[in-house]
Amino acid sequence: MTITNGKVSLKHLVTMEILSNEEVLGLIKRGLEFKRGEVEIKPDRKYYASNLFFEDSTRTHKSFEMAELRLDMGMIDFDARTSSVNKGETLYDTILTMSALGVDICVIRHSEVDYYKQLIDSPTIQTSIVNGGDGSGQHPSQSLLDLMTIYEEFGTFEGLKIVIAGDITHSRVAKSNMQILKRLGAEIFFSGPREWYSEEFDVYGQHVGIDEIVEDVDVLMLLRVQHERHDGNESFSKGEYNSLHGLTVERYKRLKDTAIVMHPAPVNRDVEIDDSLVEAPKARIVRQMQNGVFVRMAILEAILNGKA
Ligand code: CP
Repeated sequence: MTITNGKVSLKHLVTMEILSNEEVLGLIKRGLEFKRGEVEIKPDRKYYASNLFFEDSTRTHKSFEMAELRLDMGMIDFDARTSSVNKGETLYDTILTMSALGVDICVIRHSEVDYYKQLIDSPTIQTSIVNGGDGSGQHPSQSLLDLMTIYEEFGTFEGLKIVIAGDITHSRVAKSNMQILKRLGAEIFFSGPREWYSEEFDVYGQHVGIDEIVEDVDVLMLLRVQHERHDGNESFSKGEYNSLHGLTVERYKRLKDTAIVMHPAPVNRDVEIDDSLVEAPKARIVRQMQNGVFVRMAILEAILNGKA
């Protein structure tokens, strides 16, 4: 990974740790240039991408697709439900095949944490890997779009009070964000049920009740309650979660005028956030989805820079 003439070059993007602060800022600024329509796309040859989603997705899958189309890339369709995965083909063999076919970039979402290690360590696989989410591991493109949204709002990360609230243990978004935001100078707090918090996160920030911090926060990052990862063991109802830990209208009114509310979505309305607040003036949830296309264009371009 390098920056040459202001351009970020990447071989893969699998975690946030592999990016320097300079590379993170480079990708954010490039995403903003794409958003402002300041970039002319002139690929030196036709490049091909394939989006392989072994877990469900709307935003990540479709915004990578949109980013690939905007970059004039060819897309190789892949649907795990009708592929040779059903005949026992392993992930390694699927990606080995994509590489042999000449696919330049594989965007992969998979339930196995660190699934990408065997792929990027392979001497045979030439295709670049972009991690679209590995179980409860990491979600770097979501993290970059979150960072772009914060940077667009405040122009800095230094000194911002950021609360990451909710299902932290099961959230790959939280894990990517807590590390990089602290490294970029933000002050991190965690909120939500104690049972979804682990002491391993103490190195990044302290756990507080949402009512202790709501008036001071600059960025309130709500997380989706990941019902699918709880095996049906939740000790409170959706309504109880909302009143104890969620963003209610009463808490929204206590936020500073300059505070923003984020959520990676999909949103459980009336659980993490009241239905009426999803598109409220301080909410940036729709903007996050818009920014996702532009920062993903920046990620894909950085990988193509690495190949050029
Ligand atoms: N935020 C996010 O990853 O959404 P999807 O699961 O719809 O991709």
